[in-house]
Amino acid sequence: MKKEIIRLDNIKRDFQVGEETVHALRGVSFSISEGEFVTIMGTSGSGKSTLLNMLGCLDTPTSGDYYLDGVSVRKMGKNERASLRNRKIGFVFQSYNLLPKTTAIENVELPLMYNPAYSAAARKNKSIQALEAVGLGDRLHHKSNQMSGGQMQRVAIARALVNDPVIILADEATGNLDTRTSYEILLLFQELHKMGRTIIFVTHNPEIARYCSRNILLRDGHVVEDRINPTILSAREALDKLPKNED
Ligand SMILES: Nc1ncnc2c1ncn2[C@@H]1O[C@H](COP(=O)(O)OP(=O)(O)OP(=O)(O)O)[C@@H](O)[C@H]1O
Ligand SMILES: [Mg+2]
Repeated sequence: MKKEIIRLDNIKRDFQVGEETVHALRGVSFSISEGEFVTIMGTSGSGKSTLLNMLGCLDTPTSGDYYLDGVSVRKMGKNERASLRNRKIGFVFQSYNLLPKTTAIENVELPLMYNPAYSAAARKNKSIQALEAVGLGDRLHHKSNQMSGGQMQRVAIARALVNDPVIILADEATGNLDTRTSYEILLLFQELHKMGRTIIFVTHNPEIARYCSRNILLRDGHVVEDRINPTILSAREALDKLPKNED
């Protein structure tokens, strides 16, 4: 049995908008074990981002319990939650969320700034390692506006990896990228998965689910499907079949 690192127990999230209550999550329960590569799918408004924000400790449920690595997130104070988030979770967003006019190294170093265990030199080393791991060893000093979309997304992934998080959460991480670049990013996630990382990937694209180990489908704030994928496709093979981008 693999170690369980996420457990959701009847999670509900309501938003109050004027007189109206929006039930974004209506009682979601599941657990995720170390080393799973999970997609969360569902139509627009089904609650995917709300769920991901919950998993990433960016938001707290209206009711229900969330255990991250065995610890109840509900019982934590704000500071404790922020520190847990910083140590255990790496985020990748569709819009990259990089600092503008800032180099790749500086962007990737950010999550380590709050960690007293790292000296300036150690931060830089870690950051270079993470950028090399995502194939950007030759773009260390490029600024955000001097990179392509795929490269910016790689920087964002390096930033998510730099403090060795227990889980990586991605919200539409390939949503803004062309087909080839999407598969390159998917390949990178598959490689991270092979190295034992736990990844949760929100997407609109059913094709992506075929490259992951488990697929959870949301509808109107409920989990309506939760399946293990018995035949995980290889992003490398898909990439080899695509025509090359012309530079
Ligand atoms: N801060 C908020 N205040 C009020 N309602 C919200 C808030 N955040 C989300 N909602 C509502 O909760 C529901 C779920 O939203 P969510 O962003 O989780 O959907 P989603 O599945 O990520 O959609 P998309 O695919 O369009 O990104 C929607 O009906 C949305 O309008
Ligand atoms: Mg969303």
